[in-house]
Amino acid sequence: MKSADLLLLGASQVVTLDGGRAAAKRGADEMNDLRVITDGGVAVRRGKIVDVGTTNHITSTWRGLKRIHCRGRTILPGFVDAHTHPVFARARENEFAMRCRGKDYEEILAAGGGIHASARAVREAELDTLVAGVSARLDRMLVHGTVAAEAKSGYGLTTESELKSLRAIRRAAARHPMTVARTFLGAHVVPEEYTRDRKGYVELVIKEMLPRVAKQKLAAFCDVFVERGAFSVPEARAILLAGRRLGLRPKVHADQFRDRGGARLAAEVKAISVEHADATRRSGMRALAEAGVIPVLLPSASLFTGLKHVPNARALIAEGCAVALATDFNPGTSPTENLLLVASLGCSLLQMTPEEVVTAITRNAAAATGLADSHGRIAAGRPAHLVVLDAPSYEHLPYRMGTNLVWRVLIDGQLVADRGRVVRSPTR
Ligand code: NIG
Ligand code: FE
Repeated sequence: MKSADLLLLGASQVVTLDGGRAAAKRGADEMNDLRVITDGGVAVRRGKIVDVGTTNHITSTWRGLKRIHCRGRTILPGFVDAHTHPVFARARENEFAMRCRGKDYEEILAAGGGIHASARAVREAELDTLVAGVSARLDRMLVHGTVAAEAKSGYGLTTESELKSLRAIRRAAARHPMTVARTFLGAHVVPEEYTRDRKGYVELVIKEMLPRVAKQKLAAFCDVFVERGAFSVPEARAILLAGRRLGLRPKVHADQFRDRGGARLAAEVKAISVEHADATRRSGMRALAEAGVIPVLLPSASLFTGLKHVPNARALIAEGCAVALATDFNPGTSPTENLLLVASLGCSLLQMTPEEVVTAITRNAAAATGLADSHGRIAAGRPAHLVVLDAPSYEHLPYRMGTNLVWRVLIDGQLVADRGRVVRSPTR
């Protein structure tokens, strides 16, 4: 018998998402292939998975100090939220109410609300206040099974406030068990004081913000919102290429309300991912597939803004893309940290299969976040980032729309969440 620190036993399914060499699973065949072990277990030693197999195999091979009896529950890789905006200082429930009464999202933005309203609040906020906000949001992600997330700045829109936002993410993440990848989104919109000098703002982003972000190693990715009311394709290209020269990988918020060529730009600059892609036309989809750019679809944002545009997941998958799903957690268009709900919307709004949505919040989301080596699948040698679902099969995950089915969450083999509560370790 070999010895392990922890054995998880008696799971009705272990959904491994293993197999294949590429970081992400592309197209329908791969995305529907979850590699499930029935009546399974996992052995963990020093925070790493050392074996995965049937409960019989695990109990006859390993002696474990601790055991978790899963009693017919389902083990999945910890979820990865590939797109979030968690640094803001004030909720925007007032704008939601205005939209319910008939106002349009873009009208509110053009009138100085929306992202501009968030920017006013973030500029005034102390770093500590922002850190507390981010920490609380990471906690809510964690109890919903999210073990890693991408997190953007983008509500500062001045050099100091953008740096402050990225520092807030870094500080909150340093004290939190989740892994958090930071994205600089200084080019979210042109701030109000630059309305008559767009060129001046693009220059500020390129010449002042990006070099400081890179020098202080505050972000791994650079994102730009390409949309009417935000940035044009040529402006975005200049910013993304400047970021790339400084070592920041491009991401693009593209085609949320109309196709302005953002997806094609993402392919051209070899972005790791393209976000939203609600209105992307077929030619853009083909370009994404050819360039291996991962579309990160955000159905909760489509739903929350009134379903005027819904991404065509079926066409993207048919083109051979590796589709991911994320919450787009933000105060304007998607105030939810619940990735299980997003998976559910992936099925009901985007016609994805339960297998595809599970792939889209685990392995493909990890690839879109630059975490393919450590997250998104269950296999020997990988860190033990695991979710145990209080249900007998993964099909319950999208089926139970909005319900938190997460029983326990483990990061590096340590219990970090238990039935909706964060478990704090004494060292953190
Ligand atoms: O991803 N599209 C741009 N940014 C966010 C929304 C920002 C906001 O309204 O605060 C999004 O939907
Ligand atoms: Fe977003």
